[in-house]
Amino acid sequence: MSIALIAHGGAGRWRPGSDEDALEGLRVAVEAGRAILARGGRSLDAVCATVVALEDNPIYNAGTGAVLNFDGYCELDACVMESRESRVGAVSGLQRVRNPILVARKVMEETDHVMLTGDGAQRFARVMGFPDHDPVTPERRADWFDKRNRIDEVLGEHAHKMRRFLKEHPEYAGGTVGAAAVDADGVLAAATSTGGVTLKMVGRVGDSPVPGAGNYASGRVAASATGTGEFVLRSLATRAIAERVEAGAGLAEAVEAVLARLGEAYDADVGLIAVDDRGLAVARHRTRDMPHAYFRGDAAVVALMRV
Ligand code: GLY
Repeated sequence: MSIALIAHGGAGRWRPGSDEDALEGLRVAVEAGRAILARGGRSLDAVCATVVALEDNPIYNAGTGAVLNFDGYCELDACVMESRESRVGAVSGLQRVRNPILVARKVMEETDHVMLTGDGAQRFARVMGFPDHDPVTPERRADWFDKRNRIDEVLGEHAHKMRRFLKEHPEYAGGTVGAAAVDADGVLAAATSTGGVTLKMVGRVGDSPVPGAGNYASGRVAASATGTGEFVLRSLATRAIAERVEAGAGLAEAVEAVLARLGEAYDADVGLIAVDDRGLAVARHRTRDMPHAYFRGDAAVVALMRV
């Protein structure tokens, strides 16, 4: 079986001058996953190692450096899924933990549930030994103050202006991270982690922790989504990719069809990555940028800002 792994750093528009940092962070993260797969390790371990590296890098909107909600604190969402037995674990609304993806994995491995949220997720994380960690960085705090000070400009009189604002300024949201991999045994896994969208309502849950929406692994495909989660939730985008492949479509064809549907239905600012059981890796996006990196087999890691 051919090993492969692909990761993204979020669909949107990266600030001028930050491209190289975004690509270097992805290269480092994909190398961490590659080292595991290359020595015969599991895709589950590889996608988790990749996403941990991205969560620990404050330039991405996940783990440390995640965006703040309306009240000024982080609510972190994450999901991990393995094709074997459709094992899946997820968390949403975690406030003070360093690596939400590892808590999601514990939900999968140590509980009878698929998702824990809010205080329950936080309590579970502590019981599992995850120490207190404040993911808010000074840069994100300053950004939050700036946006809150311009709240009328940002939100206007009606909430629908927020939607228009996000469409006109896609760099404002996004930055979710995710990884998808296939290991030498042909087992597929996907992991996705995010702080959601800036100034989101307290309690808002996006697509990333929801299996089949922002994150999914079947026996044929593993996929991760990024962008405004409400569109991905409505379309169950990652499950839709798997269904198309299971019906006979090629991986690129399936990803492109799902993305086209997201465009037709919602004009959605989203991006998708996926690998299949043959070791193909595909990235597509409707935003200007989606930093991503991948490798296949023995080939070197490739990192790109856009497809
Ligand atoms: N795609 C991340 C979110 O909307 O929460």
